[in-house]
Amino acid sequence: MTTDLLAFARQLPKAELHLHIEGSLEPEMLFNLAKRNNVDIPFKSVEEIRNAYQFSNLQDFLDIYYQGMSVLQTEEDFFDLTMAYLNRSRADNVRHAEIFFDPQGHTERGVPFNIAISGIITALSMAKVQFGMTTKLIMCFLRHLPEGAAFETLKEAEPWLDHIEAVGLDSSEVGHPPSKFENVFKAAREQGLKLVAHAGEEGPPDYVYEALELLKIDRLDHGNRALEDEKLVQRLVGANMTLTVCPLSNLKLGVVKDMRQHPLKKMLDLGLCATVNSDDPSYFGGYMMDNFEAVIDALDLDESHIRTLAKNSFTGSFLPEGQKRAQLAAIDMVSA
Ligand code: ADE
Ligand code: ZN
Repeated sequence: MTTDLLAFARQLPKAELHLHIEGSLEPEMLFNLAKRNNVDIPFKSVEEIRNAYQFSNLQDFLDIYYQGMSVLQTEEDFFDLTMAYLNRSRADNVRHAEIFFDPQGHTERGVPFNIAISGIITALSMAKVQFGMTTKLIMCFLRHLPEGAAFETLKEAEPWLDHIEAVGLDSSEVGHPPSKFENVFKAAREQGLKLVAHAGEEGPPDYVYEALELLKIDRLDHGNRALEDEKLVQRLVGANMTLTVCPLSNLKLGVVKDMRQHPLKKMLDLGLCATVNSDDPSYFGGYMMDNFEAVIDALDLDESHIRTLAKNSFTGSFLPEGQKRAQLAAIDMVSA
């Protein structure tokens, strides 16, 4: 039964709305890029890198994630990284991807903004031409840095705004509430950018309120802890807010203790527009279909849940309405 549901989920066109491109850096590529660029890493083998991917919370992971980025040096590195993700997710029938990148993770260590974004954008156009996959790019601000640094990044992005759909907010959540970035989100909005933010991953429901009220987000990344507040849930339902939920990430970072306790099914039952995403697939054990497999098994999802999740991914995307309708119609044509 689960095998049939898994085949059905694979066949459905899907959109990925929460994917950090730097989090798709597989140990093999990390190892090869370290060699190619003569970057010292504290690992002697791919196996050692893989063994280091053990985390008990978000900060544990972020420390390794930022260390891993050190091998990304040239435009070609960013191109290879992005192309590898697009090829891999295509195999899971991801037809559209809205990809985060962390420019400050690169500029902070002396790699220019232009190098990172050029490599990424070239891969995105190639995926469109080679296999018809559509994409959007979302530029995230690192919330552990001051708002002034986010303003500098927004300024650097100005020549590239035609290629950037939205800004986002990621990195260490607790102690860095959305309110810290109210002004830069307002400036981004005035430039015509869409707005998303990580909130309620480790942070309290108040952070989700702030993301809604102060940042005026168009989409909520994670949002798990919103379920602690009934009024907040009603508000998210009423606003038709899409939540980009990341099951394997939640398990690996201790946001849930057991996949059987994951709130995804409950979110759907409450009428929340929840979606399935891989967050940082190379660190958390899997891409889109690995995430579907984990929740189908643990939460006993049925055909209707799976179809809803696929539909939500396009409804909650930043695609133009016509393309959304086409993808939704394609989903309706797939039978279980
Ligand atoms: N950066 C990359 N992955 C992240 C996550 N899950 N939460 C916050 N920041 C991140
Ligand atoms: Zn994330």
